[in-house]
Amino acid sequence: MIKKLFIIAALFATITRASPILKRDLSSNNSSTSYSLDDLCSISHVRESLPSNGTLLGIEMIPTSVEVNVAESSNYCYCNISVSYAHTGKNDTIVLNYALPDPSTFESRFYVAGGGGYSLSSSSTGGLSYGAVGGCTDAGYDAFSTSYDEVVLFGNGSINWDATYMFAYQGLGEMTTIGKALTSVFYGMSDDEKLYTYFEGCSDGGRQGMSQIQRYGDLYDGAAIGAPAFRYAQQQVNHVYPSMVEEDLNYFPPPCELSKIINATIGACDSLDGRIDGVISRTDLCMLRFNLSSIIGEPYYCEAQNSTSLGFGFSKRAESSTTSYQPEQNGTVTAEGVAIAQAIYKGLHNSAGERAYLSWQIGSELSDAETKYSEDSGSWELNIPSTGGEYVAKFIQLLNIDNLSSLDDITYDTLVDWMSTGYYRYLDSLQTIIPDLTSFYSNGGKLLHYHGESDPSIPAASSIHYWQSVRSIMYHEMSFNESLTALDNWYQFYLVPGAAHCGANSLQPGPYPKSNMETIIEWVEKDKKPSGLNSTVSSGDYEGEFQLLCKWPLRPFWKSNSSYDCVYDQASYDSWTYTFDAFKVPIY
Ligand SMILES: *[C@@H]1O[C@H](CO)[C@@H](O)[C@H](O)[C@H]1NC(C)=O
Ligand SMILES: *[C@@H]1O[C@H](CO)[C@@H](O)[C@H](O)[C@H]1NC(C)=O
Ligand SMILES: *[C@@H]1O[C@H](CO)[C@@H](O)[C@H](O)[C@H]1NC(C)=O
Ligand SMILES: *[C@@H]1O[C@H](CO)[C@@H](O)[C@H](O)[C@H]1NC(C)=O
Ligand SMILES: *[C@@H]1O[C@H](CO)[C@@H](O)[C@H](O)[C@H]1NC(C)=O
Ligand SMILES: *[C@@H]1O[C@H](CO)[C@@H](O)[C@H](O)[C@H]1NC(C)=O
Ligand SMILES: *[C@@H]1O[C@H](CO)[C@@H](O)[C@H](O)[C@H]1NC(C)=O
Ligand SMILES: *[C@@H]1O[C@H](CO)[C@@H](O)[C@H](O)[C@H]1NC(C)=O
Ligand SMILES: *[C@@H]1O[C@H](CO)[C@@H](O)[C@H](O)[C@H]1NC(C)=O
Ligand SMILES: *[C@@H]1O[C@H](CO)[C@@H](O)[C@H](O)[C@H]1NC(C)=O
Ligand SMILES: *[C@@H]1O[C@H](CO)[C@@H](O)[C@H](O)[C@H]1NC(C)=O
Ligand SMILES: *[C@@H]1O[C@H](CO)[C@@H](O)[C@H](O)[C@H]1NC(C)=O
Repeated sequence: MIKKLFIIAALFATITRASPILKRDLSSNNSSTSYSLDDLCSISHVRESLPSNGTLLGIEMIPTSVEVNVAESSNYCYCNISVSYAHTGKNDTIVLNYALPDPSTFESRFYVAGGGGYSLSSSSTGGLSYGAVGGCTDAGYDAFSTSYDEVVLFGNGSINWDATYMFAYQGLGEMTTIGKALTSVFYGMSDDEKLYTYFEGCSDGGRQGMSQIQRYGDLYDGAAIGAPAFRYAQQQVNHVYPSMVEEDLNYFPPPCELSKIINATIGACDSLDGRIDGVISRTDLCMLRFNLSSIIGEPYYCEAQNSTSLGFGFSKRAESSTTSYQPEQNGTVTAEGVAIAQAIYKGLHNSAGERAYLSWQIGSELSDAETKYSEDSGSWELNIPSTGGEYVAKFIQLLNIDNLSSLDDITYDTLVDWMSTGYYRYLDSLQTIIPDLTSFYSNGGKLLHYHGESDPSIPAASSIHYWQSVRSIMYHEMSFNESLTALDNWYQFYLVPGAAHCGANSLQPGPYPKSNMETIIEWVEKDKKPSGLNSTVSSGDYEGEFQLLCKWPLRPFWKSNSSYDCVYDQASYDSWTYTFDAFKVPIY
């Protein structure tokens, strides 16, 4: 719905809590009056628009904290609001920022953006191009400039639970609750006028989005969520798994050898999906049919370089210190190198052979396995990624240090124990795997969930496992096909062939979706249910090609160089299906 003008006659009947500026104009009965941004963007109007104490349970707004100014971002004028609130009886202070678009461009929408790594979004302006109000929260720990991992411990052994819950889900839930109330009064919306509310995010921003629809399902109408970093304990410890494999097999492959293994895998599996385009659109077929051992003996060569590719900077502090020198590498792929890749793609098992977690799809980069070169010893050494290392040190061992310094005396069973500890400790905060989305669904919520199939950070199978959990928990009484039909109306999942973590893959020039917000808005507001996910190839021989991605559980199979079918393949589906029997409880 596009609302260009504020029609006084309509407002007159329905406004229950009009602020003075609206009341003044109401009495003029001038049906052509429209409010300018300057009219509305005043301290007094914003204070009047705040939910009063007692209306939102546990939340007390602090009107004296309000600051406003008219600002501009990418040619959109907006009212920049800062306001604080306290939790009842707690005497804390949480700062919120909101960006409210000019009334002439407001389209009755509210937009929440996810952050990434250990950060919440610190920008309120992401919704302006959709005619939406946006907001962000400092979560009570100065999240605008502080990353959560910097405050998770007060000191060794002492967890900051307030920051943990605020980061995990509560901060965004309250920001949205308050923001929606503020928005409707600010613009003088009537009680029965819908304020469409959206979440968009990827990686931890995706986890943040999942936290919102799991816990505040009735606040959101639509969510476009990519590669969520949920199942947090398993996901974070999994970043250490490749190092553990290297330690266990006592082989620290030169990065060039792993790079060769990946390139050769892409070369070998490219055609299995029916088209040679440099993309493994069917990693399932690659996993079922390709034997990595066939790469043994192939030559590799990489020039000397300064590398900056450790993890992707979960911790702001670790991010700045990852440049390392790599000498020229010239050799042939070894049986040991292949054994490392095979073990990593197989996934973590305990010493009894029980599966603890899933892994990256074959053909994904092995980023977490990257060793570092020691000029002292002239050899390649263990290099625990900061992503997993910091998580284990701070969140599991509760030591206020930035990383794990070694894996001495650590076994696969230790990794499983770490996962277990993190699972129970943060089950109701960071874990974010509640599979019952009934409140979101019953509110009419629509979920567009996608994941790069060759994501080297968060395994694509992690998203599929959650999809399967939601399906089996919410539709356990239905047949498989009935459950697919039921889910299709509100929860659609898409694998993005070849794509990496929240973006295209430099090694596989495949499609990537760029118009997810437009898609979810049309689904929510115009009931246009997607029949596929709009994507475009951004590089390579097929640059510019449009692909309507197959909806899970269907998988693409090219029948010519220009068209593919979306097919159901039981062996393929089964290859994406996991039971984590290393744990005594079901892991959703
Ligand atoms: C306001 O306008 C409406 C419609 O034009 C009219 O019926 C009504 O009498 C007006 N009210 C006042 C107070 O002038
Ligand atoms: C109604 O409001 C518009 C815009 O503020 C103004 O230009 C117009 O003169 C007003 N008409 C009356 C009848 O007051
Ligand atoms: C609401 O509560 C907060 C915090 O207790 C307080 O600072 C504020 O003044 C209260 N608001 C009003 C309008 O009384
Ligand atoms: C928005 O308001 C905040 C808080 O008053 C201020 O720090 C920030 O600079 C403002 N942003 C713009 C673009 O005016
Ligand atoms: C609330 O916090 C403020 C500032 O942190 C402090 O000055 C004040 O004494 C506290 N009030 C209560 C009731 O604890
Ligand atoms: C793998 O392919 C990429 C992209 O074409 C290239 O940059 C890299 O050097 C290759 N690696 C090896 C070991 O040849
Ligand atoms: C892969 O190839 C190796 C070497 O030829 C062979 O020993 C192994 O059994 C093969 N693995 C599978 C699963 O076929
Ligand atoms: C790596 O960086 C060092 C220090 O900046 C520089 O001397 C060296 O030439 C660089 N090596 C390569 C291969 O880029
Ligand atoms: C790599 O090593 C092989 C065997 O020693 C040699 O023939 C080849 O020229 C080397 N390649 C480069 C680029 O140094
Ligand atoms: C916290 O533990 C680490 C690791 O044992 C230790 O190095 C550090 O000194 C401890 N910090 C404090 C403040 O005791
Ligand atoms: C690990 O953290 C320590 C400080 O806690 C730091 O000295 C060291 O450089 C870090 N190592 C890596 C590989 O980041
Ligand atoms: C998706 O692509 C189709 C076909 O090109 C097009 O009709 C539709 O408008 C697109 N939807 C969005 C949201 O971009």
